[in-house]
Amino acid sequence: MINASKVKSIAVLTGGGDAPGLNAVIRAVVRTGIGHGLKVWGIKNGFGGMVENQVIEMTDEYVAGILPRGGTILGTTNRDNPFNYPTMQGGKTVYKDMSGQALNNLRQRDIEALVVIGGDGSLKIGSEFYQLGLPVVAVPKTIDNDIPGTERTFGFDTAVGVAADALDRLHTTAESHHRVMVLEVMGRYAGWIALHAGIAGGADCILIPEIPFQIDAIIAKIEERQQRGRLFSLIVIAEGAYPQGGEISVSRIVEGSHEKIRLGGAGEKLARQLESLTGIESRCTVLGHVQRGGTPTAFDRVLSTRYGVAAAECLFEGAFGNMVALRKNEIIRVPIVDIAGKANNVTANDELLKAGRSIGICFGD
Ligand code: F6P
Repeated sequence: MINASKVKSIAVLTGGGDAPGLNAVIRAVVRTGIGHGLKVWGIKNGFGGMVENQVIEMTDEYVAGILPRGGTILGTTNRDNPFNYPTMQGGKTVYKDMSGQALNNLRQRDIEALVVIGGDGSLKIGSEFYQLGLPVVAVPKTIDNDIPGTERTFGFDTAVGVAADALDRLHTTAESHHRVMVLEVMGRYAGWIALHAGIAGGADCILIPEIPFQIDAIIAKIEERQQRGRLFSLIVIAEGAYPQGGEISVSRIVEGSHEKIRLGGAGEKLARQLESLTGIESRCTVLGHVQRGGTPTAFDRVLSTRYGVAAAECLFEGAFGNMVALRKNEIIRVPIVDIAGKANNVTANDELLKAGRSIGICFGD
């Protein structure tokens, strides 16, 4: 294992789907690293770039002006895993372990430690490299907020803000036309975005993967509102939500990806069903990647900056194998092996879920 005081050269990469705040983390790692006399490299296009040797030197100028910019200046992918990497052989795609080549590419440049900014797939790969002896520190990124060990992933706050804004807009048009408006939001198998956006946007029903829904419960809520003269209803559905006894909605399969299944379609299915059962015109809006693009909120910029600085500090102090995390508004360190491959879901005891129930929101159960 590398002695912390000898670390002179580090690299940073962004892996998985992008999230608002990635550039703010990169900037903080680069500035903190250079400020401590380190050479900082950027690996382009996630772990694929580590295999393909796409490495550039990062300077202060390179990260100038990127704090409010969405996406990642390094590029990313949610497909490439060096331990199961697609190669072409005789015109066919063959998956091979290319982790040795990826490590060699770092060694050639004397890169001694790596900051991985990523979600569950990237954390798992980072953890495997760490077990092979590469000093790794991770930063939890995803709009889904589904990484355990931390109260917040950066990108979540921005995604919730976008979804809440969409709900405000749907609210006025729903009210004018006396319609049921369904908003499908991202979040994979966790209901965090739906829960927070639904509360912020005044939804009447919030449907999340953690609580399989009953269509009758949703209809009862819509009818109860009608009786009170509220002729419209707003429903937020997480892409991973599904009916009791029914199935999750899959939109596509992405071969080579850590998580092959892409979710989508739950909102449209629900809107059609509600319209045919109630006779009320019901429409669905799918927010999709709008939640991931664009400028991060001030909260995400601050959190990303704190995470980037803390990740670089882990490297100086030799605290390898950790993910930086937020708990009780403090940045802490959590061993990556304790969280890799695990998920953080909404529980029945979640304070916000209970608050939603208290104010009469229907969760479909
Ligand atoms: O994990 C982030 C996320 O945006 C999920 O909410 C969503 O299910 C998935 O990524 C979409 O992935 P892709 O960009 O490959 O469609």
